[in-house]
Amino acid sequence: MVLESVARIVKVQLPAYLKRLPVPESITGFARLTVSEWLRLLPFLGVLALLGYLALRPFLPKKKQQKDSLINLKIQKENPKVVNEINIEDLCLTKAAYCRCWRSKTFPACDGSHNKHNELTGDNVGPLILKKKEV
Ligand code: FES
Repeated sequence: MVLESVARIVKVQLPAYLKRLPVPESITGFARLTVSEWLRLLPFLGVLALLGYLALRPFLPKKKQQKDSLINLKIQKENPKVVNEINIEDLCLTKAAYCRCWRSKTFPACDGSHNKHNELTGDNVGPLILKKKEV
């Protein structure tokens, strides 16, 4: 039943529809079309444009936003996971700042690059600050 309907559309109705379309013989013929002829042609041109877009879409450049959604843009990209270890005993300073924005050139230590990142993106990231308790 469904296939009969599809077959009728493809074999009978579609060719009849295409035959009635006022497609000009040349490019300049488009300028001579009347308003009603344009109105009959527009749905067909819309379908052609949609099919063209769908065919070309896989080859169009991806949205930049997808690249920007990465948190880590350049630190140790050769590793499957970036992990840093710091021994607590090595924390000899009274205060140490560790990067959480992934933009530091001295990662994992914060170098203040988060300020530029925040300014450019409107983000509000900042470092993790470890402090020794004053006794
Ligand atoms: S540089 Fe990344 S948090 Fe400061």
